[in-house]
Amino acid sequence: MSLFSFLRRDGPPHVEPLATSDAGEAAAIHAAGFARGWDLMDMQAMIADRAIRADGLFVGTGRRLTGILLSRTVLDEAEILTVALAPSARGRGWSGLLLREHLAGLAAAGIRTVFLEVEEDNAPAIALYRRHGFTPIGRREAYYPRPGGRHAAALTMRRALD
Ligand SMILES: CC(C)(COP(=O)(O)OP(=O)(O)OC[C@H]1O[C@@H](n2cnc3c(N)ncnc32)[C@H](O)[C@@H]1OP(=O)(O)O)[C@@H](O)C(=O)NCCC(=O)NCCS
Repeated sequence: MSLFSFLRRDGPPHVEPLATSDAGEAAAIHAAGFARGWDLMDMQAMIADRAIRADGLFVGTGRRLTGILLSRTVLDEAEILTVALAPSARGRGWSGLLLREHLAGLAAAGIRTVFLEVEEDNAPAIALYRRHGFTPIGRREAYYPRPGGRHAAALTMRRALD
């Protein structure tokens, strides 16, 4: 399906807070993006947690969930816990919309600094974060386990919010 017909049928994407009733779809999107997924109960608990800001990228009038972004807040700092788009929604720049709206919500809630950790070889994620003002502040060698007993390094990044 072309992007034009997709948008005509479903309308442009938009960002709104996740509800606990979105947890099943959110867990499926997370599982499609990561080797170790979060199950339905984990996702429900995180969406219900008042210290966690959980946003979804929705397409169309049917509120079809296509992306998730969760961060944990402590005082005036936040840490991004996860960001993932459904595989069919990737490559369209929608992750930028989701991250931009999420950061705006954090800033409006008084958050001044945002941290995250990302696998050093996750090029799309690092490009996304750099484009939105995150800069590397540290590196953790052999941090993420990989199949076959190998490991990948983690990059720690930070962004100040105005
Ligand atoms: C990370 C993720 C949310 C990004 O969403 P996306 O729709 O794939 O990203 P986009 O197509 O908008 O691309 C983001 C940037 O990466 C670049 N990019 C995409 N694929 C790339 C690749 N293979 N190599 C290098 N850069 C790449 C794009 O050009 C874009 O850069 P730009 O903003 O400077 O133009 C998505 O890939 C995903 O869900 N991945 C699985 C879960 C994951 O890894 N999450 C991050 C964990 S920290």
